Amino acid sequence: MTTTPPDEDGVAAWLRYAPLPASTAANSPAIDTVVVLGEEARDETSPVATAGRELVDGISKILGRAVALGDASSPRTSSTLVIGTRDAFSSLEGVPSSSSPSPLDHSDGYWIDPSSSSSSSARILGHDARGVLYGAFAYLSKLAQGELSVESAAWGSAPQAPVRWINQWDNMDGSIERGYGGRSLFFEGGAVRDDLARVKEYARLMASVGLNGIVINNVNANASLLSEASLRDGVKRVADTMRPYGVRIGLALNFDAPRTLGGLATSDPLDAAVVEWWTRTTQLVYHYVPDLLGYTIKANSEGQPGPLSYGRTLAEGANLFARALAAHGDGLVFYRAFVYDHHLREDNPKNDRASAAVDFFAHLDGAFLDNVVVQVKFGPIDFQVREPVSPLLARLRKTKAAIEFMVAQEYMGQQTHAVYLAPQWQEVLSFDLRVDGKPSLVRDILSPAGPFAWPTTGYTAVVNVGRDTTWLGHHLAMANLYAYGRLAWAPASDARALLDEWTRLTWSTDAEVVAAVGSLLMDTWPAYEGHSGNLGIQTLCDILYTHYGPSPASQDGNGWGQWTRADATALGMDRTVATGTGFAGQYPREVAAVYEDPATTPDNLLLWFHHVPYTHPLKSSGKTVIQHFYDAHYEGAATVQTFPARWARLRGKVDDARWAHVAFKLAYQAGHALVWRDSVCRFYHALSGIADDKQRVNNYKHRIPLAVPSPNVRLDGYSPVDARLPEAASGGRAVQTASMTAPGKAAVTLNVVDGVYDLAVNYYDTSVGRARYTLSVNDAAVGSWQGNLQDRLGHDFSAFLDGHSATRIYFRGVSLKTGDVLTIVGEPDGDERAPLDYVSVLPVGVVD
Ligand code: GCU
Repeated sequence: MTTTPPDEDGVAAWLRYAPLPASTAANSPAIDTVVVLGEEARDETSPVATAGRELVDGISKILGRAVALGDASSPRTSSTLVIGTRDAFSSLEGVPSSSSPSPLDHSDGYWIDPSSSSSSSARILGHDARGVLYGAFAYLSKLAQGELSVESAAWGSAPQAPVRWINQWDNMDGSIERGYGGRSLFFEGGAVRDDLARVKEYARLMASVGLNGIVINNVNANASLLSEASLRDGVKRVADTMRPYGVRIGLALNFDAPRTLGGLATSDPLDAAVVEWWTRTTQLVYHYVPDLLGYTIKANSEGQPGPLSYGRTLAEGANLFARALAAHGDGLVFYRAFVYDHHLREDNPKNDRASAAVDFFAHLDGAFLDNVVVQVKFGPIDFQVREPVSPLLARLRKTKAAIEFMVAQEYMGQQTHAVYLAPQWQEVLSFDLRVDGKPSLVRDILSPAGPFAWPTTGYTAVVNVGRDTTWLGHHLAMANLYAYGRLAWAPASDARALLDEWTRLTWSTDAEVVAAVGSLLMDTWPAYEGHSGNLGIQTLCDILYTHYGPSPASQDGNGWGQWTRADATALGMDRTVATGTGFAGQYPREVAAVYEDPATTPDNLLLWFHHVPYTHPLKSSGKTVIQHFYDAHYEGAATVQTFPARWARLRGKVDDARWAHVAFKLAYQAGHALVWRDSVCRFYHALSGIADDKQRVNNYKHRIPLAVPSPNVRLDGYSPVDARLPEAASGGRAVQTASMTAPGKAAVTLNVVDGVYDLAVNYYDTSVGRARYTLSVNDAAVGSWQGNLQDRLGHDFSAFLDGHSATRIYFRGVSLKTGDVLTIVGEPDGDERAPLDYVSVLPVGVVD
């Protein structure tokens, strides 16, 4: 009999160093001393010294044996692991650098020979100090996965690109824009926090997957970060904390800082006083952070100031910072391509936000200085569930670019839904842009060895971890951070293989656990796409409010340009050159030709590129667009219904604390997937007037809507109310207590075949209170709950009755007979008046 592993809180993430089963441990290399070569061994700030400490800690925990730290003078045995840079090895161990394996010729590369004998010890060599640390983590990863034996062959690796960065959108007040894992690790109350212990742990996690840089503050930047006090007392400490892990820090700048912080009359990038101000400020930054990574700039975007505000070009703006940095070191300007007009007029059929990046940047190719890199979101809009690759990646040649991903699931369930994103990134990275008619995979473009030979290119991702012990708010979301780092290092990696590594390290090396977590998470993105917006229509979330739950109507009728142009007969954006916005023509010729024609556009991007009738037949299935919508929403939501049961089978095989946390979230997710399905299907059903072939939409056999008058439903102290979004309630109406303080009662007389049922109650859990509910049958209590998910889930909450707050709770296995009276008593709290939508009485196994 196996025992359940001890509870964990998630802080250790994939660096748990859990003890291996005895049989596996017995076959692993029996290291008892880690010898660290070179001067760096004594320099606490060097990644080489960090590597030594990490190996001692990791090996001793994984193998359950004492491991000592030694230096060049320590004796060597077959149980010694010697680590150091290639140079240290060549001077101290006589290993000539000229004969070294090729990963050691590249920055950050490492080489590991785990075998040892009486005459030679196991070795980890790095091209440089950081390479030694990456090698140490690679060794520990294999060991912890039970994949390192005394017979293992030597191996090595080097990253494809130098830029492997994180962006955090942390505000100095401690909040995080689009952060769903608690408050900032870096800031609180306008300053850097005193306690940076978690920042150190973050740097450690980053280094373990090869990430080497982080921009610590929000791109919507607060200029006061640059004040001398802030740099001296705060920013410097962050840099010092992360440096031993080979992680360099950068800052996001506010373009208007010369005016708002420096007191100048202008922030015009060509004004001499402005140039002088940035020069001096940058000098000061380097004084406190001598190895500064660089600056990230969001300018002329979503209301942020920028060079265009002063009649200057974007390149003139970027070059201002580039010159200031170039005087000091190798710092880079990351200039974001996310420049667009968010007051676009939808009545002009030529307007298209998707075109903005190329419109703003392509003609400036070559106008940016050498240390500028244009940071391009992977898709033309904004991290949607599906987007084509940004054409800008094929349009800059002399000017370098890097890609921007988003680990934070802003439009993808906000870490309340489990959605594994690496399969999406893998599709993006392996897309062939056909630049000049030649193979041009995105991952090759993002390589110094690629078609444009950009020496400084690579990867950035908005991550937004917070102080929650789960880091991201959901234990399963950490698979995304892990996979991001591993893909930034080796972009041809397979998403499933990375997931299995992560599971072995994070949960268990047990094959059944690895298989179950892998298959569940691989199903999440397709399921989410199914129920949230398919055929390239974008994530149909509420873009005017929380970006969380469904609101298809919010896409149109405003200036943000995430339009669907849905009307009673047709939907989708015509982005063709022939009749539409012309966006398709921004791609290289062969790709443009594919997207220009609905007959060649892949179905999953049909509505991104074409405006077609609801009755348009799809190539792949022959179904009409509208029927595909209905079916995909039902299938996606049905897949999510399987998650709780699949996870339940892992109980006892992983620790109870993390198991229960995930079980709770998956149960919520299953309920919310139905909210998504119903809202989107009802919306298009109402708009198009076209029935679902399978008669599912608005036809819920087992539901009893409480706001619909019926002889079987009695309301006492509850009254009907319109939901904020009509599709987010049965018939557009819910019920809530008539009084702000007194409880209400909703009673339903059942008309069922006697038997055992699952009861589902759909209610609204808002941000404005914590109402209480009790469910009884014939006065015998079945269960009670509180509408307090705002304390338990991290997504952005709504104050209203809508698709964000709509929530399902189950009470399973209840015996019922006809004539039974089911009663819900709701007690209001704050402004939350115990709102309810419907009760569903489900024969066991049925979902409705
Ligand atoms: C999105 C997001 C914003 C963010 C912006 C950006 O629009 O909703 O919160 O500031 O992207 O990437 O700059």
